[in-house]
Amino acid sequence: MAEAAQGTDWRSWQESWDRQQEWYMPDREERFRVMLDMVEAVVGSAPRVLDLACGTGSITDRLLRRFPDATSTGVDLDPALLAIARGTFEGDDRVTFVTADLKDPAWAEGLPHSSYDAVLTATALHWLHSGPLTALYGRIGQLVREGGVFMNADHMIDTGTPRINAAERAHRHLSLIHMALAEPTAERFRIYGEHADGDTPSPQWHADTLRAAGFAEARAVWSSPSDSLILAVR
Ligand SMILES: C[S@@+](CC[C@H](N)C(=O)[O-])C[C@H]1O[C@@H](n2cnc3c(N)ncnc32)[C@H](O)[C@@H]1O
Repeated sequence: MAEAAQGTDWRSWQESWDRQQEWYMPDREERFRVMLDMVEAVVGSAPRVLDLACGTGSITDRLLRRFPDATSTGVDLDPALLAIARGTFEGDDRVTFVTADLKDPAWAEGLPHSSYDAVLTATALHWLHSGPLTALYGRIGQLVREGGVFMNADHMIDTGTPRINAAERAHRHLSLIHMALAEPTAERFRIYGEHADGDTPSPQWHADTLRAAGFAEARAVWSSPSDSLILAVR
């Protein structure tokens, strides 16, 4: 670890990340709980996990608290979030972190294992357009062992319900905005637009694409008005 990082309270950085994410997703812990319930249900309580686009390692953190015999590989591209992740889990030999760009076809080459019981991801794959996401699902289909699981909790839009979507989006944005930040936050949404230019496929698209990638079954196991948790079994 770099000298400047000596004595850093990584746990408090980790908690600060969680607080910031909960501002966007008040039900974040609920989706993690369901995700780990389904890990336990399908592959048991000592799984080898790939925490995909792990950020600071929030999934890995909950995994190891609940299942001390689990192991985890975290993959991400962001050096700052990975620094918090590495600092938080320093000295824990159950955890490994790998820097990789999930849009790079060779992203999995640096992983320490060629096969996982569970590949888990949250609030991340909406950064990818559906083309690269389809390619990523193809690779994940090869990494999950037979009988293993993939789960993705993320924003997913059913384009067949445009009025419901518009009402939900307006309500969500309003409820996120503190009055003092109302105007700059509205401006931020205007500047950045939607993730992946609005190429945000439906839960059905995710399930169908995962089946085409070699998974035997796939469906939502949790949903909110804006997000779903898709589970696929190989
Ligand atoms: C909102 S954060 C979620 C992090 C974590 N899964 C969580 O639930 O706290 C999205 C993460 O996706 C990562 N990410 C986005 N695009 C990526 C890419 N192409 N390759 C690797 N990681 C990526 C970001 O660096 C970030 O850590």
